[in-house]
Amino acid sequence: MDTLQVLTYLVWLVASVTFIIALKFLASPKTARTGNLLGAAGMALVVAWTFFTSPGMLENWWIVIVGGAVGSVAGFLGAKRVAMTAMPQMVAIFNGAGGGAAAVVAIAEYLEFADHGDGLLPLPFVIATLLGAVIGSVALTGSVVAFGKLQGIVTSRPYMLPGQQMITGAMFLALFVIGVYIVGFENSIPLFLVFCVIALAAGVVLTMPIGGADMPVVVSLLNSYTGIAVAASGFVLGNYALLIAGTLVGASGAILTQLMTKAMNRSLFNVLFAGFGTGGGAVAAGAEGEEQLREINAEDVAVLMAYGKRVIIVPGYGMAVAQAQGPVRELMDLLIAKGVDVQFAIHPVAGRMPGHMNVLLAEANVPYDRLKEMDEINDDFADTDVALVIGANDVVNPSAREEGSPISGMPILNVDAAQNIVVLKRGRGTGFAGIPNPLFSNEKTAMLFGDAKPSIEALVAGVKQA
Ligand code: TAP
Repeated sequence: MDTLQVLTYLVWLVASVTFIIALKFLASPKTARTGNLLGAAGMALVVAWTFFTSPGMLENWWIVIVGGAVGSVAGFLGAKRVAMTAMPQMVAIFNGAGGGAAAVVAIAEYLEFADHGDGLLPLPFVIATLLGAVIGSVALTGSVVAFGKLQGIVTSRPYMLPGQQMITGAMFLALFVIGVYIVGFENSIPLFLVFCVIALAAGVVLTMPIGGADMPVVVSLLNSYTGIAVAASGFVLGNYALLIAGTLVGASGAILTQLMTKAMNRSLFNVLFAGFGTGGGAVAAGAEGEEQLREINAEDVAVLMAYGKRVIIVPGYGMAVAQAQGPVRELMDLLIAKGVDVQFAIHPVAGRMPGHMNVLLAEANVPYDRLKEMDEINDDFADTDVALVIGANDVVNPSAREEGSPISGMPILNVDAAQNIVVLKRGRGTGFAGIPNPLFSNEKTAMLFGDAKPSIEALVAGVKQA
């Protein structure tokens, strides 16, 4: 083994270690930024090393530089400008790009070797190439459809083709038959290209029947697919850093998918095949029924909180929609200055993507130690003067404790144990699950209607005067 090879292995090893440490750091909001930077630094190292040491790269330097510059600028500006509520779309499109890149690597490798090779290609190579091409293609077009649904360009309702199951079955069968033929009988470029086109179509056909509100689960699953496709590319290219990075993405995407479906009390099968998750939100206004809800004004809520001992703030999707995190931070500061103990109760699926509330509150510089996970804080509600629910609905819906509700069995925050409950929302709209919430008609609950941002600003003004 020559010195360059040894150094290359060493660089791959260092980069792989940064990826693993980065993942560990990403598990906590406190260390997530460092983790992100560390992972990016590891990636930059292998990209630069590959550029300077791989044959053919320096001769074609301008293609690599121009391509890299276009991608980096698009990624940087996209991530910088994206609104917090549009984050799931951004993740979907970035993920699609990753899947597409892995598929392109697999296709390029196959075309090169199939062209020069005599007879069948080595079994591990051809299997990895086919896997990279099929999984990467499904991740690409599936992510594009997911982006379209989240962005409202494609219908967010489950869309089934006539004979959907037959079509899906026929596609899988065709992929299998062509795959087996290429592996075992003939090394054929036209058939390989047909295989890729079917895989691209399969991504669309598999994602269209899934409702818009389930897209975040689907995106994390597609993310996992992208990881597997990248790992296959790493195998094909003999690049261990790529193999390890892809495996890490594949495994963490799969774990995230499992955690999310568990927290929503749904099975993955249910998400993928039940044509569910059409979303609710403001669209379903009036769905809360017409029972009397007790209203309260901002001054009274401010007094209730300012003279209480403990306030627990429960943020939900509505806080993201209203972009109310800044004023929420100000409210927290004022209450703390008045000697009130303020904590945030974070439900694992509050909002529309994993960690949604943590990201928003971190953006507003709410200290991490005030954010408590559901299991950590659920017993504290009983000893709380005011539970302030900001645009959360399903994650505080007590009907999850009853049999027969669509959210039966979903763990919820025990907001109804608090002495006073104040709910900030615009009207009688339901949450994602589209079902009424008995918490709102609880005798301890008072409703502060309106967009969460001006409502919180009114609370800030009220606490200042209290
Ligand atoms: P939701 O149940 O979606 O409820 C959000 C509430 O916010 C609505 O009832 C809405 O009522 C209110 N709202 C909307 N815009 C508002 C605004 N500008 N100001 C004030 N209120 C506003 O939210 P949640 O409790 O966070 O639950 C999340 C749901 O999404 C769960 O069912 C979860 O399973 C699902 N989900 C989560 C994820 C992840 S990973 N987090 C992924 C997919 C699905 P009004 O219209 O009356 O204002």
